[in-house]
Amino acid sequence: MPRYLLPALLALALPAQAAQIAISHRGASAYAPEHTFNAYDLAIEQDTDMLECDLILTKDEVPVCIHDETIDRTSDGSGRVDSFTLAELRQFDFGSWFNEANPTLAKPEYVGARIVPFEEQLDCYLRINPKMRFHVETKDSAGGRAEQVMVDLLTRKGLIATGDLANGNVQSSTIVLQSFNAGSLERMRGLAPSIPTGFLFSVPDQTTLPWLLTGSGPDYIDFYIPNSALLLLYPLAVTAFHTNGHDVQTWTVNDSAQMNLMLALGVDGIFTNNTDLLRAAIDARGNGTTPEERGNPASFEHGCPGIAGRVTSNLGPGDVWEPTGTRGVQLKAVSGSSSGGGSSGGSSGGVTPGSEGSFGGGLPPLLLAGLALAAIWRGRRRA
Ligand code: G3P
Ligand code: CA
Repeated sequence: MPRYLLPALLALALPAQAAQIAISHRGASAYAPEHTFNAYDLAIEQDTDMLECDLILTKDEVPVCIHDETIDRTSDGSGRVDSFTLAELRQFDFGSWFNEANPTLAKPEYVGARIVPFEEQLDCYLRINPKMRFHVETKDSAGGRAEQVMVDLLTRKGLIATGDLANGNVQSSTIVLQSFNAGSLERMRGLAPSIPTGFLFSVPDQTTLPWLLTGSGPDYIDFYIPNSALLLLYPLAVTAFHTNGHDVQTWTVNDSAQMNLMLALGVDGIFTNNTDLLRAAIDARGNGTTPEERGNPASFEHGCPGIAGRVTSNLGPGDVWEPTGTRGVQLKAVSGSSSGGGSSGGSSGGVTPGSEGSFGGGLPPLLLAGLALAAIWRGRRRA
């Protein structure tokens, strides 16, 4: 069967489901240096549902958004992220490498891009769009400190309980946590039961393979995020998770045909470097969030003026938010200190408003049989 026919057949076979979302992987990182304001701004312009932050603590325990444990690949410096203070990391250029690696996409404004503290990512994009949502991955738990620092930060900022997880709605929270490390998710559940947790699969092991096969794992995991290659090998996983009440997302899909295949399989969200392609694919299926639900503005000031460079420690300064009671949050105050360390406290002030799951050459032999069974099970689930 021609490969391009598969998504169309699946679209006919599978019943409607909840809105499918676009998650901008390190921002719109196909077109701009990953985890910079440039990449996040572009993701908003491309009308994303969620921004990702790969979270690592600096030497002075400020959470920053960066994928690697070192700054070697994505800056003009060298060394472990946790060997630098935030002030030291701000000296490095996190944009020029992109221009050198991608001459056809190079832009002068990428030169000198600075590292983004998680708190600045939150404040910048919530000010632009109070409905924006954030997919945070604990990359290095730092002996459990990363989860504690994140919870302290979210508590200080009023973002610790913004959704309706108690009723099983993982898509209602401004913040969700993802990790390859189940222990990180378990710690987070103990510290902050209101934050939805998602487990990332790459290659399942003897502990996690049963979760994939049965569609169920520990109570502290709310949703599952297999890479797309794994889902092609075992597409029944989508139905298995859905049957047990768990959302399924997948990573990292950058090709339109592959996006269509994953959407047809019934995933609830896709991580992508190419937010524009995914937005188009979701819109074409007519099964995404509405523009009103996403809330992204038609235009906004780029580079986060007033926010970029504001954070000096894990006490901010930063914004305080509060849930609106519907979707999203609203600005309540600005709090925090411009000096000092620690991981809690702060006073409120006045209101101042490659191997990424690629599909390889052909379709796995069990795929078609699996998809047929998936359709049957999905029908049972929706009944
Ligand atoms: O978080 C989804 C995906 O980003 C996991 O892989 O290595 O890109 O963080 P990685
Ligand atoms: Ca990630």
